[in-house]
Amino acid sequence: MKERILRLLSSNPGYLSGQRISSELGISRSAIWKHIRALREAGYAIESKPSSGYRLVDTRAHFGREAVIMAARDSGMGFDEILYFDSVGSTNQIAKQQKGSASALIVADGQTEGRGRLGRTWDSETSGGLYMSLRLCPDLPPSDAVYMTQLAALAVVEALETLYGQAFRIKWPNDIVYNGRKLAGILTEMTTELDRIESLVIGIGINVSQCRFSEELSDKAISLAQILPGEEERRPEMLTAILAAFKALYEEFLQKRSLEFVREPLNRYSSLLGREIVVISGDERIFCKAVEIDGSGRLVVEDGSGARKTLYYGEVSVRGRASYGE
Ligand code: BTN
Repeated sequence: MKERILRLLSSNPGYLSGQRISSELGISRSAIWKHIRALREAGYAIESKPSSGYRLVDTRAHFGREAVIMAARDSGMGFDEILYFDSVGSTNQIAKQQKGSASALIVADGQTEGRGRLGRTWDSETSGGLYMSLRLCPDLPPSDAVYMTQLAALAVVEALETLYGQAFRIKWPNDIVYNGRKLAGILTEMTTELDRIESLVIGIGINVSQCRFSEELSDKAISLAQILPGEEERRPEMLTAILAAFKALYEEFLQKRSLEFVREPLNRYSSLLGREIVVISGDERIFCKAVEIDGSGRLVVEDGSGARKTLYYGEVSVRGRASYGE
């Protein structure tokens, strides 16, 4: 009921009378008051005026459990479980600890042990970013897990473009970049059972208002606050938009079992195509040109002699530049 009250207040910029809330939701005035008190205790700024009713002061100001639940519902993506933490070690870790075949969405306001790819850490300052993990249990072979990273990257870039209207790009396979600097990353992990996926965890981290990064990252990372000062704090909307975009892509993928249907946007959003890049895989360095993303989400590259090679996975950086890919 708290969420329904919150939704009603959020959809109305002015005051909403107790009478109206009561008739819309079919609860008594004293029940409304009880829920408003609980919402205030949870951090929502709700004003009340005797003759006017209730007003939510800033719907974006508080990112909490109710906002996350509402955002997930608005996206249409159903989860068996939704968990929110003010602070947690790593949302991916929590998602991996969930048992059985239940789907889950784990969101945190801050992480103390945020994890990135290749054993790196992910700077996760409190309220500085959107830190989320989706736990899914699709009936798919483990080899399909890599596709999910591509779908998640596409969902993030589409959602950010819709909300902020800026040119965000995907740096294959899992980074979202803006003007060559990394804005978001995706860490996909899974547990397997013989030849099928038991659980798949897609962790997404987006730099929202965080402006201080570790020395190593300071010239490589960027946040929405640096791109659009004052416009950045839209985490609930961002969550809804990402989940809605991912739901559509994921459902289509489950039917088609290929990335052919997203080949065009994966190429359109790629930050690498036509560029000279260095593919770093372990100790190996391959100097080549990025040509295209194929229908399986793999990166096709060409060496100096024109010979083509298809990459499944690797650490890619742009030759001759310290930046992250544009
Ligand atoms: C990368 O680019 O290296 C991937 C970064 C992924 C970070 C996100 S934040 C939410 C989720 N929980 C984690 O511990 N990591 C992912």
